[in-house]
Amino acid sequence: MTNSLLILPGDGIGPEVMAEVTRIIDWFGDKRGIKFDVTEDLVGGCAYDKHGTPLHDDTMAKAQEVDAVLLGAVGGPKYDKLDFSVKPERGLLRLRKEMDLFSNLRPAQCFDALADFSSLKKDVVAGLDIMIIRELTSGVYFGEPRGIFEEGNERVGINTQRYTESEIDRVARSAFDLAMKRGKKLCSMEKANVMESGILWREVVTEVGKDYPEVELTHMYADAGAMQLTRWPKQFDVIVTDNLFGDLLSDLAAMLTGSLGMLPSASLGAPMENGRPKALYEPVHGSAPDIAGQGKANPCACILSFAMALRYSFDLGDEATRLEQAVNSVLAEGIRTADLLNEEGVTPATTVEMGDAVLKALDASL
Ligand code: IPM
Ligand code: MG
Repeated sequence: MTNSLLILPGDGIGPEVMAEVTRIIDWFGDKRGIKFDVTEDLVGGCAYDKHGTPLHDDTMAKAQEVDAVLLGAVGGPKYDKLDFSVKPERGLLRLRKEMDLFSNLRPAQCFDALADFSSLKKDVVAGLDIMIIRELTSGVYFGEPRGIFEEGNERVGINTQRYTESEIDRVARSAFDLAMKRGKKLCSMEKANVMESGILWREVVTEVGKDYPEVELTHMYADAGAMQLTRWPKQFDVIVTDNLFGDLLSDLAAMLTGSLGMLPSASLGAPMENGRPKALYEPVHGSAPDIAGQGKANPCACILSFAMALRYSFDLGDEATRLEQAVNSVLAEGIRTADLLNEEGVTPATTVEMGDAVLKALDASL
């Protein structure tokens, strides 16, 4: 079977961090005989600059054909004034929606060498390894009606939180499946105390849970969940939640680990004909326009996103672990990009130096 990849570096620091991933992809071809058929294209502001749209139809079609899409980041101040319909983020949202990537895996893992770096106390975060599953194709992000309308003599802004049973069912199943492979604990978060969609969410997740008697299922209101995530995050294993709560809670969980620059994500859909799931991998961080083009960005989140691709799209879990351990050992050696340093007088590693170090650690793993 061939391994096809579509690479969309995007805007801001996207191209810099993706350049390091490309070197790592080549390493797997040269040293492990795992070849990838790679094509590259535009998404976000750079696509708008060239085509007047943040995602060209041809790019969308390519994304539907490949085994996995790897995305850097989209957006930047240059595009802030664009019409909503062509903003860089719309390109990303279109990919998620049209590929039907309903299950978004956002791990929050604290690397040992970075435990001191979290804003929380070391014992609260050391060894942390949780997974947030965010529903990604429905809810208030896509619900209709939406828009800004005239009502009497003023305007009203409307978005709709909407979930069907089948949408809840499928994301719940993906979360239970993952919990079975991990610590067999799943916490579902919603606001069933104030939202009907939350009541339905809780009912459907509970029903799906009957098919997974080994998984310990709990429910929490999302606001209490946010509180518990900062109080004692290690009580969680897998968390499943809707699109908007997942957006918020995953940023919160990310900061527990010290830096957004370390966190990957996978967005998975239904299996394709070859059995592989529709998939898009991207770092959790954004385009960081303030440091773009300066060689300062941390490529680890993007590198670790490729590790997730190895695991979830290409069934190469051992190679994914090899890459994750390479990143871990680089951090243990004390090699840090600027986002992972809080001491004065230490020269941070550049993006390329970080990539070099990971490649060296990969060589050492052979
Ligand atoms: C994320 C981002 C996106 C979202 C933006 C860029 C559209 O915040 O992936 O978490 O809100 O989903
Ligand atoms: Mg977000």
